[in-house]
Amino acid sequence: MNIIEWKNNVLYILDQSKLPFKEDYILCFKYQQVIDAIKKMKIRGAPAIGVATAYGIALAAIKYTGSNILDYLNEVMSEFAISRPTAVNLFFAINRMANILNNNRNLSPSDIKILLLEEAKRIENEEREKSDAISSYGAEIVPEKARILTHCNTGSLATIGPGTALGVVKEAWKWGKLEHVYFTETRPLLQGARLTGWELYKEKIPSTLITDNMVGYVMSKGLVNIVIVGADRITLRGDTANKIGTYMIAVLVNYHNIPFYIAAPFSSFDLNIENGSDIPVEERDSEEVLTCMGKKITLDEIKALNPAFDITPAELITGIITDKGVIYPPFKEKILKIKEEISK
Ligand code: MRU
Repeated sequence: MNIIEWKNNVLYILDQSKLPFKEDYILCFKYQQVIDAIKKMKIRGAPAIGVATAYGIALAAIKYTGSNILDYLNEVMSEFAISRPTAVNLFFAINRMANILNNNRNLSPSDIKILLLEEAKRIENEEREKSDAISSYGAEIVPEKARILTHCNTGSLATIGPGTALGVVKEAWKWGKLEHVYFTETRPLLQGARLTGWELYKEKIPSTLITDNMVGYVMSKGLVNIVIVGADRITLRGDTANKIGTYMIAVLVNYHNIPFYIAAPFSSFDLNIENGSDIPVEERDSEEVLTCMGKKITLDEIKALNPAFDITPAELITGIITDKGVIYPPFKEKILKIKEEISK
């Protein structure tokens, strides 16, 4: 079964908060359960959040029995919009669903419901194809005997297909180009240790877990020759929001002269924003930092900061692996060219 699946008007979501120790599915009968799963990061990763949002809106439509489906769904969409603010894929999915709704407002509620579900399925299939394309474009630029470092989880658990950055890792392994992968544990919620570790183990890819503060050490020892990470939002000039800690890795990479790539589908680009400083960075509950796997790790009196993402300026990025090919700086003109091609 996939990480997200639609069956008989129920949305099944693999509960990633329990991985790698339990593989449990949440059964969502109501859209509020989908919002809860996104907020609590039972489903996470930018493309997967987008797909869950699309299905959540379709679920809300299908379960609605009232007389004003348009107003109701607009309200539902604004609830999704505030569930997790950084990954732009969520807004990409909302816009796609809103367009279907607005372009078919004169149809009967039952026809609207069918069209919304079809659109959610289309978004899911497109994300799978994008993930496949990123994996092969990325494998091309990976050097022979690659020793890749990656951060957070960007694999099948975060996307619908093989992944973005981790999709490239998997493909490079298939092509015989990969020697080893170093993956960070990714505090506070351990997406690296729990989720990337789980995926690499399943694929039997040679890999080593490091704590987040070992990145400088492994680079100084020459253990890494390329870094590939994912993205939650990429601006027009190429500034990139990704899991907290990415910026720190990008600075280190530049000091050590190691290529630093972002891998992301075009649905993770926000063409309405030029500068990274305008990306809203989600601030999560400080309890996530004050605890580890549900256990308190410090005194009750201690306070903690918990931004879920940071912004890496375009100047620190070697290239961006997209589903339309790999782009290099200056990014803006290439991003606009892809947009133009897509809208043809
Ligand atoms: O907070 P998360 O786990 O949703 O953050 C995930 C990341 O930062 C990923 O790198 C990003 O969403 C890309 S996933 C293909």
